[in-house]
Amino acid sequence: MKISVVGCGYLGAVHASSLAKLGHDVVGVDIDQAKVDLLASAQAPFYEPGLPELLGETLATGALAFTTDLSRVRGAVVHFIAVGTPQQENSNAVDLRAVESAFDAIIPHLTAGDVVVGKSTVPVGTAQRLAARIEAVGAHVVWNPEFLREGYAVKDTISPDRLVYGVRPGDDHAVAVLDEVYASVLAQDIPRVVTDFATAELVKVAANAFLATKISFINAMAEVAEVTGADVTQLADAIGYDQRIGRKFLNAGLGFGGGCLPKDIRGFMARASELGAGDALNFLGEVDAINLRRRERMVDLCREVLGGTIEGARIAVLGLAFKPDSDDVRDSPALDVAARLAELGGRVRATDPQAIETSRRVRPGLDYVATAKEAARDADVVLVLTEWREYRDIDPDEFGSVVAVRAILDGRNCLDPVQWREAGWTYRALGRP
Ligand code: UDX
Repeated sequence: MKISVVGCGYLGAVHASSLAKLGHDVVGVDIDQAKVDLLASAQAPFYEPGLPELLGETLATGALAFTTDLSRVRGAVVHFIAVGTPQQENSNAVDLRAVESAFDAIIPHLTAGDVVVGKSTVPVGTAQRLAARIEAVGAHVVWNPEFLREGYAVKDTISPDRLVYGVRPGDDHAVAVLDEVYASVLAQDIPRVVTDFATAELVKVAANAFLATKISFINAMAEVAEVTGADVTQLADAIGYDQRIGRKFLNAGLGFGGGCLPKDIRGFMARASELGAGDALNFLGEVDAINLRRRERMVDLCREVLGGTIEGARIAVLGLAFKPDSDDVRDSPALDVAARLAELGGRVRATDPQAIETSRRVRPGLDYVATAKEAARDADVVLVLTEWREYRDIDPDEFGSVVAVRAILDGRNCLDPVQWREAGWTYRALGRP
C-alpha cells in the first residue's frame, strides 16, 4: 500500500520506517530539511535502539523515502499525521498548531476515498473538528493513538499491545483500509478496538494518566516509608504480587519525566476543565505534585549526606536522560536535579551514556564529562539519577578508589544496598531506610 507519514519526529520516523518494514511503500514528510537529510541517510535524529538499522534496511529496498515536499503524498491512499503536540508555553493546555496546519496543508493533495489517520495525542474533541474539513473533500478520518515507549519504539510499533481506531460510526471503509495497513500486526492476534473519535482520543490520555498515577502512588508510599523506616521496594514487590495490581510501573524513585506523561496529564486536566469536568481529574494535580516533590527530596537527601551544605561540594551525577536507553531530556527529573544542585552552589560534574548533547542544549552551564569515573573523581557524593545498565553494573570496590568520600545516592532504587554498604559506602535511596 502507498502510505504517507506527515511529521517525522520521534513518532513519525519510527512509524514510517516500521510501516515500510511491514511491506508498504512509505514516504515521510517533514518541514525540517536537516531532519529529512539525516533520516534519508539512515541516521536517527535522536537515540533509539534499532532505528538506524531499520531506516538503513527500508531505505535500501526503496520502500521508504523522506522529503520536505508535501505534494509527494499524492498517490498515497493513507496519510498518517504524526506531528508534535507540545504543552503551551504559558499554560497546561496542548499546543495544536502543528496538527491544525498539517491537516489543512494535506487537504489539497487528497483524493476522495483517502484515509487521513491522526496519531498525535490531542485533546478530546479535536478529531471531530478536523474530520469535518477532511470529509468535505470526500476523504475519511481515523484517530489511531500511538502507545510507543521510547527505547522500545520499534518493537512497540510492530508488535503493540493493542490497536485503537476511532472512526465515524459505520465508516467501514476507513476500518477496512486501516486493517490492510496493519494486516501483519493483526496477524499476531493483537487486540483491535474500533470506537468513536472521542473514545479513541481519551484512550491515549487515560492510559498515560493511569501510568503516571501508578508511579506517583508508589512515590507517595515512598514518602510515607521515609518517615516510618519502611522499605518501598519491598512494599512494591509485596503489593505487586497481587495480580490485580501488578509489579510494573511501581518503581519508586525520582519519578516520571519525558515528552509524554507530564504534558499529557496537564493537558488532560486543562481539557477536562474546559469541558466542565475538571473535578474528575483534580487528583492528577496531586499526581503531578507528588512527582515533582521527589526531585526536592533528592536535593534534600544530598544536602543531608553532605552534612548540611551543598555549596562547594563536589557532586557526581550519573544519568541525565529521563529514562535509560534514551537521549531525551524533556522534563527529565535527572537533569532537573543536577541543575538545581549546581544552582545551589554544588560543583556538579554530570555524565550520561547518550544524553550529554541533548542536556547541553537545555542546560549549557553544567559541567559535562564523558564517563562515570570522570564524574566521580574526587567526589564528595555520587548520585545515580537514571538507571542505565552500565551504572547498575558498577563495581563499588573499584569505584571507591576514585571518589573522595564513599557516599552514593540511588535516585532510582537500581543498586544493591548490601553490596554497596559492604564495600564501605554510605548508601541512601528514596523510600528506603
Ligand atoms: C510513555 C508511555 O509509556 C507510552 O505508552 C506513551 O505512548 C508515551 O509515554 P515514555 O515517555 O517512553 O512512554 O516513557 P515510560 O517508559 O512510560 O516512562 C515514563 C517515565 O516514568 C520515565 O521517566 C521513567 O523513569 C518513569 N518511571 C517508569 C518510573 O519512575 N517508575 C516506573 O515504575 C516506571
